[in-house]
Amino acid sequence: MNPGFPIQEESDGRLVYWGQERPSLGMAGVAEQIVPVTLGERSYDIVLHPGLLATVGDRLSALTTSPKIGVVTDRHVASRYLQGTLRSLSKAGYDPTPIILPPGERTKTLGTIAKILDALAKHKFERQSLLLALGGGVIGDVTGFAAAIYQRGIPFVQVPTTLVAQVDSSVGGKTGVDHRLGKNLIGAFYQPRAVLIDPLTLRTLPRREWIAGLAEVIKYGIIADEEFFAFLEQEMPALLKLDEEPVIHAIKRSCEIKAQVVAADERESDRRRILNYGHTIGHALESLAGYRGLIHGEAVGIGLVQEAELACYMGLCGREVVDRIRSLVQRAGLSEQVSQASFTSLWGAMQHDKKVVGGRVIGVWPVRIGEVVIRPIEQQVCAAWFQRKHGRGSRPSSGRQPGKHSASRKARARR
Ligand SMILES: NC(=O)c1ccc[n+]([C@@H]2O[C@H](COP(=O)([O-])OP(=O)(O)OC[C@H]3O[C@@H](n4cnc5c(N)ncnc54)[C@H](O)[C@@H]3O)[C@@H](O)[C@H]2O)c1
Ligand SMILES: [Zn+2]
Repeated sequence: MNPGFPIQEESDGRLVYWGQERPSLGMAGVAEQIVPVTLGERSYDIVLHPGLLATVGDRLSALTTSPKIGVVTDRHVASRYLQGTLRSLSKAGYDPTPIILPPGERTKTLGTIAKILDALAKHKFERQSLLLALGGGVIGDVTGFAAAIYQRGIPFVQVPTTLVAQVDSSVGGKTGVDHRLGKNLIGAFYQPRAVLIDPLTLRTLPRREWIAGLAEVIKYGIIADEEFFAFLEQEMPALLKLDEEPVIHAIKRSCEIKAQVVAADERESDRRRILNYGHTIGHALESLAGYRGLIHGEAVGIGLVQEAELACYMGLCGREVVDRIRSLVQRAGLSEQVSQASFTSLWGAMQHDKKVVGGRVIGVWPVRIGEVVIRPIEQQVCAAWFQRKHGRGSRPSSGRQPGKHSASRKARARR
């Protein structure tokens, strides 16, 4: 045996990690995509492979020495994928405990965390026991947070089953729950040991959830990669039909971009903010809708277009940038219009976001497709833009309304 090779094969065919290096999750002879997330000792791989769910058990041996695995999922996902997952885990020699939660955002509470912790304590989970998040972003966020605090941190693995979770929430280590006074107010940065993506699970995703996830995919093209944006323009019809090849490329490229951004700025001090493009207005609209009626990706789709319009108004990008973004968002089947919100309520909702520093809203603005800048926005500028667009809502508090050109000149001067 080569002593430098960190994986050893057991008599039952399982691959066991025994060295100091980070193990690769790749299974010999199986073509799969791997995107490394480079975060020093917290580094991990995103593994992408159709049919991966059936081999989930084999892929965990490098990540835990305990036989106990807690499989956290929701009822919708459990009815489709839990049995197969449990079978794969048992076959690989694990003793899995399913923890099945109600589906939906309302599950993201401290009460749910208490229930997961109760189950772990009751089943005598130890420091090395692993939690597996099988589901969408809600399941990933609560499982990660429970893993972060049970016995001060136990390993966890993400097995995301929605597009939003596969391209966004499972990668980057943000975990947490909502508070009645705000979404995602309570949480921790806690990295998974691996993200295992089976794109075949997307086949059962409700179409509305699929389309909502495309908003996050489009976002990656806008913030970091014009070529990817052009690929989405070209392949949107195929993506809407769930054609395997473009779907896998879209997920992989999205993960690569998120991984690069997170590796450069794990705790969102600066660069990571670019991931919030479309989310300043998106989150405000979600909050104004009371987190009902409009799902996250749908709100982000509107945010992508409206924030581009605002950037154009400020003179940061040309009209052609807005037109390309609007056209792609529409072709994905997403809406791009702000609903009947008044400026006062929209600005108020934007103020409640975590992206507010010292009362100023920090925005992310496209300068061209593939490049964005991070910059605060003043209330007057935003109000003037809104008023020009809708001709209603509050006037800027100073009473002064900068016209398009004065706002553009100001923005250019700041660039
Ligand atoms: N941690 C992060 O960085 C991050 C990033 C983005 C979003 N989020 C969070 O993610 C959550 C949204 O995630 P989401 O959009 O995945 O929502 P979700 O987890 O609520 O899933 C959406 C719905 O799809 C169902 N579902 C999941 N997978 C399925 C499948 N394969 N087949 C059929 N049905 C399936 C779920 O049961 C649910 O009803 C929000 O709470 C948001 O705050 C977190
Ligand atoms: Zn988002």
